[in-house]
Amino acid sequence: MFADRILSGMRPTGSLHLGHYHGVLKNWITMQHEYECLFFVADWHALTTHYDAPEIIEQSVWDMVIDWLASGVDPARATLFIQSKVPEHAELHLLLSMITPLGWLERVPTYKDQQEKLTSKDLTTYGFLGYPLLMSADILAYRSTLVPVGEDQIPHLEFTREIARRFNHMYGREPGFADKAEAAVKKLGSKKARLYKELRNRFQEQGDDEALESAKALLDEQQSLNLGDRERLFGYLEGGGKMILSEPQAMLTVASKMPGLDGQKMSKSYNNTIALREDEASVAKKIRTMPTDPARIRRTDPGDPAKCPVWALHQVYSSEQIKQSVVQGCTSAGIGCIECKQPVIDAVLSEQRPMRERAQLYLDDPALVRNIIADGNEKARKLAGETMRDVREAMGLSYA
Ligand code: TRP
Ligand code: SF4
Repeated sequence: MFADRILSGMRPTGSLHLGHYHGVLKNWITMQHEYECLFFVADWHALTTHYDAPEIIEQSVWDMVIDWLASGVDPARATLFIQSKVPEHAELHLLLSMITPLGWLERVPTYKDQQEKLTSKDLTTYGFLGYPLLMSADILAYRSTLVPVGEDQIPHLEFTREIARRFNHMYGREPGFADKAEAAVKKLGSKKARLYKELRNRFQEQGDDEALESAKALLDEQQSLNLGDRERLFGYLEGGGKMILSEPQAMLTVASKMPGLDGQKMSKSYNNTIALREDEASVAKKIRTMPTDPARIRRTDPGDPAKCPVWALHQVYSSEQIKQSVVQGCTSAGIGCIECKQPVIDAVLSEQRPMRERAQLYLDDPALVRNIIADGNEKARKLAGETMRDVREAMGLSYA
């Protein structure tokens, strides 16, 4: 139905806040209408850094899933699941580890960075070093074609592509590949076979990327091809051998600039967050007590919105008209800060209202959430199982 399959994961780190909503979840909600989407709770990933706090995982998982649903992630459109309930991720991680050069892992920039940053933890573990490979396994298990990532995760995607390429190169070579590929071309029927060959030539002889994309699209449409032939034809386009694992593309998402209560980026570690489903009185209080332009000591002192964290929230929540009256009122001391904050309070509360309502449904009946996840786990296992069958076979493990 959709040409692209998107996979994205989030670590369960407790209740989500509005920074997650504006930075990630809104994007998921848009994507679920445009792509086949798989969204998962990366609980094993959480253990790579929080292995010493297993007691917080379970609650964080359910809180987070409820936050997803509350935001509008729709289980009828997207598959929602938990990583550790799909053991295929672990199996693929293990099998890929056999061919992963240590140097590739050591060179992933987050490895040294995080070790230096999180000094309170001992991160000289095997699990932490292998974290990018676990992420690769997550992605490759579903033959995901697009992965939304922030700038910082681009190296992980590049690493994943290299692993897929290495795997295909090592295991995609079968005796008589070219003959088998030619036989598969014939099965396309004469018209499509001619088109396939023409596009393949254009790509191989002139490096025409558009021809490559058209040829892939042509193959995507062929429902009747068996899996082996499909992989051969994909692999034959680019040379080499069968394409058992597909290389995902990064879909760069702009980092959220969602400001927190103090003007810095909203983040749990800065203690400046508003939770997604925070109760109304607490939201109002937090915003009412936000710091403002320090030059506005008295109501009669004019201020400068550029020096005020409340202004940063107006940028996210207010209409042009309100923003104009804030600039006008602030710089002329025409309005007080409490007055200025009210539209922000109103906007945040009205953004959260439907979320709180949706969440209530799930809080009242936790079995709903369990069922959504159980369904998702099952769907995910089925998809990952298809990939694993090919991977096991390629690695000589398909005996009974
Ligand atoms: N790396 C992401 C994080 O730490 C989560 C993640 C794990 C992920 N596996 C993924 C994201 C696969 C996208 C695709 O937050
Ligand atoms: Fe900030 Fe508004 Fe007060 Fe100006 S009036 S300092 S923008 S809260």
